[in-house]
Amino acid sequence: MEKIVSLAKRRGFVFQSSEIYGGLNGCYDYGPLGVELLNNIKEQWWRSMTLREDIEGIDASILMHPRVWEASGHVEHFTDPMVDCKQCRARFRNDELPESGACPNCGGKDTFTEARKFNLMFRTFVGPVEDSSATVYLRPETAQGIYVNFFNVQSAARQKVPFGIAQIGKAFRNEINTKNFLFRTREFEQMEMQFFVKPGDDDEWFEYWKEQRIQWFIDLGMSPDLLRYNEHGPGELAHYAKKAFDIQFLFPFGWGEIEGIHNRTDYDLQQHEKFSGKAMKYYDQEANEKYIPYVIETSAGASRSFMAFLVSAFAEEQLEKEKRTVMRFHPRIAPINAAVFPLVNRDGMPEKARAIATDLQKRYRVFYDDKGAVGRRYRRQDEAGTPFCITIDSQTLEDQSVTIRDRDSMEQVRVADAQIAAYLSDNLGI
Ligand code: GAP
Repeated sequence: MEKIVSLAKRRGFVFQSSEIYGGLNGCYDYGPLGVELLNNIKEQWWRSMTLREDIEGIDASILMHPRVWEASGHVEHFTDPMVDCKQCRARFRNDELPESGACPNCGGKDTFTEARKFNLMFRTFVGPVEDSSATVYLRPETAQGIYVNFFNVQSAARQKVPFGIAQIGKAFRNEINTKNFLFRTREFEQMEMQFFVKPGDDDEWFEYWKEQRIQWFIDLGMSPDLLRYNEHGPGELAHYAKKAFDIQFLFPFGWGEIEGIHNRTDYDLQQHEKFSGKAMKYYDQEANEKYIPYVIETSAGASRSFMAFLVSAFAEEQLEKEKRTVMRFHPRIAPINAAVFPLVNRDGMPEKARAIATDLQKRYRVFYDDKGAVGRRYRRQDEAGTPFCITIDSQTLEDQSVTIRDRDSMEQVRVADAQIAAYLSDNLGI
């Protein structure tokens, strides 16, 4: 994990937020390579959801009416049990203390206060008066923005149940302890899809989405050996769930949830009907009946998935003369699609390389590099996870062909310069 965190910082994937001020715990910034990788992951998720006829997208606001969070149960239930160490004043989640009972910070024995409930929602105020009537929350999940828009979307898009609504956006949780880099942060992004179904059809749709979602990670290059399901037992279910499966990824620190698939029943729409006074019953023309739809939710963390993709891509290899670090990102999510190098900075090679790079940049993210030995340039692109490096050499000047080096096999093929774009398109899959 240390190696990955250090590479993430050095190569500009992730920085600590407000680093020059000592950082802000649980908050991170995505650097030039990180933001491309994150955007590509979100783009792949968005396409997998919305390039089908039964899912619509929305982008709801982060601040919502405070009654939303009363209705959803978050004001009452979205709490973690918290204890303080009386000796060193460090704060912990009671359910994460070591069995020895010793404080993980100072080692004190039996120094904890009684556990008390701590609500994880961040609170702020709308307008100039900071009183309870002006309290609003930063959303702890994006899902509620979908539920309150169920009828807006259904009628605007003329959808019929079963159909889904997808959304990507920031969520905030005032976690008691942040940990493991991007795994548990206070500000993060979610990719959530709520699929509305007829009650009774929910178990079947639950199985369908469970399969679809794990396959999405596999299709983007994650090894099935690093993925598994974890079913929530009756004592672990969230207040809204009838059934829940996590998709877990094997991080260097152990298995951790990257996505939750939940059968939320009609809990949320029922609650919004109760609290808003607006009817949430859907009229099913085919069945000629009215009901509140059940919801199958797929809730992935974009930030956690990002971290899982970093871990899954990371590899160190011993070559004949040196060691290389290579990020084996699936070509569809790699931050840079291709790099272009002139072999040497003379004989017209830089000009030719520049022209090729400029042409490819109309469609792809292309990095131009003419600094240092070509072997060093390959290593730099390996660390960035760039699938292809295109080199312009003396033969290019004679026959207009270039070499294209594959990141994983390190093999090179010669391709006519007019064919580079087609080669990339075939091999990147974008
Ligand atoms: N709408 C349901 C929901 O929010 P959740 O299991 O609490 O369910 C879903 O969260 C996903 O959001 C998790 O699987 C995880 O990927 C991500 N997530 C939750 N809390 C997080 C945190 N503090 N930091 C980073 N990601 C988080």
